[in-house]
Amino acid sequence: MKAAVKAVLFRRYGGPEVLEYAELPEPVPAAGEALVEVRACSVNPVDWKLRAGLLQKFFPLEFPAVVGRDGAGVIAALEGDAQGFAVGDEVCFIAARGQGCCAERIAIKTERLARKPARIDFAQAAAFPLAGATAWIAIAEAGAVARGMNVLVHAGAGGVGGMAIQIARHLGASVVATCSAANADYVRGLGAGATSAPTTARTSPRPGPSSTSSWTASAARCTGALTRCSGRAARSSTWSRSRSRTCPRATASRRGRRSCATIRRCCARSQR
Ligand SMILES: NC(=O)c1ccc[n+]([C@@H]2O[C@H](COP(=O)([O-])OP(=O)(O)OC[C@H]3O[C@@H](n4cnc5c(N)ncnc54)[C@H](OP(=O)(O)O)[C@@H]3O)[C@@H](O)[C@H]2O)c1
Repeated sequence: MKAAVKAVLFRRYGGPEVLEYAELPEPVPAAGEALVEVRACSVNPVDWKLRAGLLQKFFPLEFPAVVGRDGAGVIAALEGDAQGFAVGDEVCFIAARGQGCCAERIAIKTERLARKPARIDFAQAAAFPLAGATAWIAIAEAGAVARGMNVLVHAGAGGVGGMAIQIARHLGASVVATCSAANADYVRGLGAGATSAPTTARTSPRPGPSSTSSWTASAARCTGALTRCSGRAARSSTWSRSRSRTCPRATASRRGRRSCATIRRCCARSQR
């Protein structure tokens, strides 16, 4: 019998009931790829949005579609230029959009791998790449957050928001975050100086001036666009009051850096 890997996949758009634990052919790494034994993969909001077909206009899937975008594991084989990696290395990764990674093994380009820090386990390493990169792009690249700035992070208890708080603090900014009351201690523990009442964020689609953050008109415009674009949890958008011109589209494309499609789409809207 042909070798196979177990994977979590779906063959049509729909609710959780379309998910299957099924077998796929063994992946074979092409030149420049690694075969990774996946030890953990994470679940992000985009996974259910893709499965439900909400994003098919932008990112149509080929079926069967494997769930998951990021994870962690061990390199089992390498093909071609190893880019400094070796068999046995512990890595975390962001798979290409549409590839899926909730599988026993995946073949993935080595440029999509990063070494897993030894002091975190596979589950922690799997949770980091996509949410962490999203927060990094928003805070460090698009927002150019720096020492002395004041940053408001909406949904600070979420995967992206929690990373955003810590990155902004690391860069020397003061951070205020919103979250539900039950998460206030957790969010404060991440380094947010104060948390605002959740009702403010949850009832106002376009944040206005508040006692905790003085929003510039353009920052509020961008945030309004982000809120409209990503719906209820676009609250990972983060803006500094002193960076009124830090709309991420211009910054990210000028640097030629990878940016997440959500942020690009939202910025395109904010330019209208
Ligand atoms: N994860 C990624 O890599 C990634 C990448 C690009 C874009 N995004 C987008 O960024 C958003 C956040 O993603 P995430 O991974 O951080 O999600 P998450 O871990 O599920 O966190 C979502 C947060 O949103 C808050 N929330 C839920 N309902 C809310 C409401 N009605 N009003 C205000 N806040 C509400 C929750 O706060 P409480 O728990 O305090 O109630 C929760 O902490 C999503 O729209 C996602 O699609 C995520």
